[in-house]
Amino acid sequence: MSEPVVLGIESTCDETAAAVVRGRELVSNVVASSMDQHARYGGVIPEIASRAHAEAFAPVVSKALADASMTLGDIDAIAVSAGPGLAGCLAVGVSGAKALAWAAGKPLYGINHVIGHIAVTQLQFGAFPEDTLALIVSGGHTSLLHVRDVTRDIDVVGTTLDDAAGECFDKVARLLGFPYPGGPHIDRHGQLGDPHAIRVPQGLTQGRAGKQHPYDFSFSGVKTAVARWIEEQRAAGRDIPVDDICASLADSVATVLARKAIAGCEQYGSRTLIVGGGFSANSQLRAKLLEVGEAHGVIVRIPKIALCTDNGAMVAMLGVNLVEAGITPSDPAFPINSSMP
Ligand code: KG4
Ligand code: ZN
Repeated sequence: MSEPVVLGIESTCDETAAAVVRGRELVSNVVASSMDQHARYGGVIPEIASRAHAEAFAPVVSKALADASMTLGDIDAIAVSAGPGLAGCLAVGVSGAKALAWAAGKPLYGINHVIGHIAVTQLQFGAFPEDTLALIVSGGHTSLLHVRDVTRDIDVVGTTLDDAAGECFDKVARLLGFPYPGGPHIDRHGQLGDPHAIRVPQGLTQGRAGKQHPYDFSFSGVKTAVARWIEEQRAAGRDIPVDDICASLADSVATVLARKAIAGCEQYGSRTLIVGGGFSANSQLRAKLLEVGEAHGVIVRIPKIALCTDNGAMVAMLGVNLVEAGITPSDPAFPINSSMP
């Protein structure tokens, strides 16, 4: 087959997205978000997100095909995120993708969204190096993965034992009065503050007590420490130094993520670190990863922000990898899996 053309569909959370990828080329990329409808609730409301997917699905897929000057007939395969994510949201995208695949007689792949965050880096940096580590950070996951073959051989090196990095930022942002999602606000204010103004613990620097998990993360203690500090300041009638809090929190989280990811690369003999997920838009993390990577001779592949956040390109790119590897398409009855490992 010449370069496979794959339509990718994404609906795990608040983005309804579709994209067409040919080989390593992003041909079209359409993203609709229901975030504005969730902001006032302080988090994504699954029922609202599912309804928004049902409304946006057909227009978004049509636009992705039209922008690519294609019809379904021009596509070799369809890929869709089957998990992890919100069940009702996944159900809309997966049902829609199944209907399209059935109607057009195309193979369909139900893929793992988190692995899509790894795959998408090929659109900017080309083929994967032989053996690589991937740090995937978002509002829902914080994972360090050893990638030997993106289509069938990935091991978990470390994961968060409680909150994800983005979740920790969103919770602190809420205490500071920022709207959801607060991560980008912490980022912006953090750039104006002193990262050493407040002592924020670097949660779980060693690993689970008594166990050998040196690459696991924990961010719930970090959030609690910051929350307690803010409370004390308020109780004492002192002003809240918002910029310094944001800078100190961002520095703590970025430092521990970068240190463990690069140490993992050294242990696994990987010269390259792949980074993805919405939280990798964070400027403090990007700077810290590049700095620590350079100091240890590890090349850090952080894609541009439009490829870090949830999109259809990540799904389509992984779909291309599966077609190229000759992987059998998913059974038409494949289930959604909201807690897919
Ligand atoms: O991958 P994503 O778009 O959705 C999930 O699968 O969760 O990630 C969203 C998360 C949110 O927690 C958001 O606050 C965080 O990424 N985020 C940021 C930044 N941009 C997005 N956190 C810190 N700094 C940013 N610039
Ligand atoms: Zn994601």
